[in-house]
Amino acid sequence: MRKIAVANGDGIGPEIMQAVLHIFNAANVPLQYDFVDMGKWVFDKGFSNGMTPEAQETIEKVGILFKGPMETPKGKGVKSVNVTARKTWNTYANKRVFQTLHGVDTVFSKAGIPIDITIVRENIEDTYGGIEHMLTQDVALSRRFITRPGSLQVIKYAFEMAKKKGATRVTCGHKANIMKLTDGLFLDTFYEVAKEYPELKSDDIIVDDLAMKLVVRPHEFDVVVMTNLQGDIISDLCAGLVGGLGFAPSANIGDHIAIFEAVHGTAPDIAGRNIANPTALLLSGITMLRHLGLMQSAATIENALLYTLEQGVRTGDFGDKSKEAKNTTDFAEAIIGNFGQNPQHAPKPMLPDMPVTQTIFKLEGNPMLGKKAIHEATIVGVDMFIESAEQPNVVAEKCLRYTTDLFKLVTISNRGTQVWPKGSIFTNLVNQYACRFESIGEIAVTQTDIIELYKRLATEFKICSTELLNVWDGRKAYSLAQGQ
Ligand code: NAI
Repeated sequence: MRKIAVANGDGIGPEIMQAVLHIFNAANVPLQYDFVDMGKWVFDKGFSNGMTPEAQETIEKVGILFKGPMETPKGKGVKSVNVTARKTWNTYANKRVFQTLHGVDTVFSKAGIPIDITIVRENIEDTYGGIEHMLTQDVALSRRFITRPGSLQVIKYAFEMAKKKGATRVTCGHKANIMKLTDGLFLDTFYEVAKEYPELKSDDIIVDDLAMKLVVRPHEFDVVVMTNLQGDIISDLCAGLVGGLGFAPSANIGDHIAIFEAVHGTAPDIAGRNIANPTALLLSGITMLRHLGLMQSAATIENALLYTLEQGVRTGDFGDKSKEAKNTTDFAEAIIGNFGQNPQHAPKPMLPDMPVTQTIFKLEGNPMLGKKAIHEATIVGVDMFIESAEQPNVVAEKCLRYTTDLFKLVTISNRGTQVWPKGSIFTNLVNQYACRFESIGEIAVTQTDIIELYKRLATEFKICSTELLNVWDGRKAYSLAQGQ
C-alpha cells in the first residue's frame, strides 16, 4: 500500500486531521500513514527547524506530506516550519483552488455567479527568503529575490496544470510597473513560457487591479499565477469569495515532494473544542488523492462532501445560522453517511496533476543552475548605502571629497527618491542614503576599483551595504532612483 507522511499539526490540527483520516478510512482509501513529529511542540523540544530528523527522513522517503496547520512560536530566531518545509523540499508551486460550494452561501452564490479560480503562487522566493538586515537603527531592509529559474518552474507548472484542468485562460498577476526588475523578470518569463501554450489565452494584470476585479467579476478569472507574497494575499481574498478560510485547500507541489494542507492556520481561538470545520483539510486531502492517482476514492469522498454541504449540514463557522451547527466529529460522520450520494452540482472531473512519486529521489545535476547567456558584462559603478543624519548636500560634498579619479557621483537617493543633485525640500529623510557612483565615461571598472572607493569613503561614513551597477549586453541591470 502507498505510504504517506502525516503530521497532525497544532491547535485545531489534530481534531481536523482525525476527522479527515476517519473519512479516508471509512472510504477504504488505500493509504498507509506514517505519523511524523512536526510543529510547535517539536520546536519546544529544542529542534530549531520544527521537525525531528526522523520526520525529515520519512518525508523525503515517501515523497508526500499531509499536514495540519502548525504554529510558529513568536519571538526571534525561529522560522515558520510551514515555510521551512516548502523551501527545504522545493515545493515551488502552491496551488490553491477556490470553487463555489453549493450550501456555502456567499454574495456570489446568492447572485448565481459561479467561481472557479485556481491561484498558483510561487512558493520559495520573494520576501519569503526572510533575508533581512537593519541597515541603521531606523532602517530595515528586506531582500526580495525573484529568479528566472524559480519563475520558470512555477509558471510552467501553472500552464501544465491549466491544460490538464481544461482551463482556457492563464493570467499573470504582478506589479511590474513599479518593480521593473523583479516583477518584470517574472512577467517576461511568463510570456516566454506562454509561447509554448498557444492553445491557452495568456494575459497579465497589475495586482491591485486584479484585487478589485476579483471582487467585482471573479467569474472572469481561471488560472492566475503570481509571485509569493502577492499570491498569498490574493489567495486569501479568493478564500473570502467562496466562503472563507474553512473552504480553502492548498497543495505545495515540487518535482519530488508534495505537501498538502489547508490554507488556514491553527485557529487557537477554537482549538480543543471539536468545533473546527475540517472541509479545507478534506479538500486538500482530495487533491492529494488525485495527485496520487486515487481518482475513485477522491470522487467518492468529494461527492459525499458536496452532497453534505448541499443538504445544509454545517459547522459553526458557515451556513444558515438558523440550522443547528454540527461539531467536527459529527460533520465527518455526516459525510461518511453520504458516501454513494451524488451532489446536484457535480464538479468537473479532474486528471492527476503530476506524475506519481514512488521512490527516493537523488538529484543528479541541478537544472536550476542554468543561466541566460549574455555576451558582454561590464561593471560601470556602484551604489554605496551609507548611514548619515546630515543633509543631502553635506553628504554629497563628503562623497565628492573622497571619490577616486575613476568615478563620478551621479545621484543620491533616500528611500529610493532622488535628493541630490536635484530634489525637493518636502522629501522626508531617514538616516540612510544610497550614493550612486558611476565610472567616468561609462568605462568598465573592476571590483578592486570599487574596493578602493569603498576604503576612501569608509574613512568618512559607515557603509551599510553595496550593490554593483552591472550592464549586460548594453542593458542596465539596475533601477533608477525616483526622479533621476
Ligand atoms: P487562522 O487561520 O488560524 O485563524 C483565523 C480565523 O479563522 C480564526 O478566527 C479561526 O478561528 C478561523 N478559522 C481558521 N480555520 C478554521 C476552521 N478550520 N474552522 C473554523 N474556523 C477557522 O489564522 P491566525 O490566527 O492568523 O494564525 C494562527 C496560527 O496559525 C499562527 O501561529 C500562524 O503562524 C499559524 N498558521 C499556520 C499556517 C499553516 O500551518 N499552513 C497557515 C496560517 C497560519
